Amino acid sequence: MVDHHVEIEQLVKTYPGAQKPSVDRVSFSLPRGEMLALLGPSGCGKTTILRMIAGLIAPTSGAIRIDGRDVSAIPVHKRNMGMVFQSYALFPHMTVARNVSFGLEMRKVGKTEIEERVKKALDLVKLTGLGERKVSQLSGGQQQRAAIARSLVIEPELLLLDEPLSNLDAKLRDEMRDEIREIQARTGVTAIFVTHDQDEALSMADRLAVMSNGRLEQIGTPREIFDRPQTDFVATFIGAGNFFSGKVREPGVAEVEGLGELRFSGEAPTGSSVKLMVRPHRLVLDGTGAAGVNRFSGTVEHIVYRGQTLTLTVRCGTQRLQADLPTHAGVLPEKGGEITLAVAPEDVTFIEKAAA
Ligand SMILES: Nc1ncnc2c1ncn2[C@@H]1O[C@H](COP(=O)(O)OP(=O)(O)O)[C@@H](O)[C@H]1O
Ligand SMILES: [Mg+2]
Repeated sequence: MVDHHVEIEQLVKTYPGAQKPSVDRVSFSLPRGEMLALLGPSGCGKTTILRMIAGLIAPTSGAIRIDGRDVSAIPVHKRNMGMVFQSYALFPHMTVARNVSFGLEMRKVGKTEIEERVKKALDLVKLTGLGERKVSQLSGGQQQRAAIARSLVIEPELLLLDEPLSNLDAKLRDEMRDEIREIQARTGVTAIFVTHDQDEALSMADRLAVMSNGRLEQIGTPREIFDRPQTDFVATFIGAGNFFSGKVREPGVAEVEGLGELRFSGEAPTGSSVKLMVRPHRLVLDGTGAAGVNRFSGTVEHIVYRGQTLTLTVRCGTQRLQADLPTHAGVLPEKGGEITLAVAPEDVTFIEKAAA
């Protein structure tokens, strides 16, 4: 019995002539039907991983298994991957239907079946009736949908998307996020998509694999990655945060210089140095949340009004705290005013692998 649909083990890629690997001992696995986001800054190795899974380039070492079978010896055209890559552009002078049917023609599928499957694929991506248009006559969003239809029509083993939304404007990008997610859920296809955009990854994926410098930093659900980052890199790359260095005085209690006692969640040995994080929206005005612990009084130095929230910079001791407060909180703090902020210990995260 195989539990994983896709399994990547200790994958390494060193390009010819390169000093160091672009992908360095990366391992992860996906159950069938999952949508995984590979997230990280430009150059961290995301596309390289996707190209190895597709079979476009060979790993230097490591294994890629699909349904428990090593696919390294299987050439790209026999892996049956649905690919939406920038380097796999549509043919602009051909019709949409022809672009979509191309893969089926290559596979010698019969004419009637091709027509049926192309129609179904176009319906799925909401391009019904546009099959006879030339690709060059479609909008950016429609072209992206045509590319998705082309990748899905072959009923791929896996759907691989490389920055599928990066060429679209902001509004269309939001729409397409939801749409890709819906199409993936409806077809049940196992999918891996690459993005450098944290919002995109958080909102679209079942799980995120966060990468930096060719290494996998952390893999987890959007919530685990956002609320329980395990490394410095993940904590700073995803979302805003207040970071503190402290010394553990007793289990769950750290002493932070210039701030005082900070109670946190997570296990760190007594006497050890720790890095702790508090997201700005987890700080609340005292009296509106947490009980008598983790209370910090200070002066409001700066206020930015953002409509639904107010971002405050508050000087507490020698530390500056950034807090995002909801604007419905009644009387709002003012610049120069004294306020007390509080945070629940479960919202103070201990970062396990902090840089020394
Ligand atoms: N064909 C190639 N030959 C040599 N180096 C490459 C090649 N493709 C990518 N690289 C290098 O590998 C690293 C990772 O690249 P890539 O996988 O494209 O990153 P990402 O998709 O995360 O932006 C980069 O340093 C890049 O310069
Ligand atoms: Mg890339």
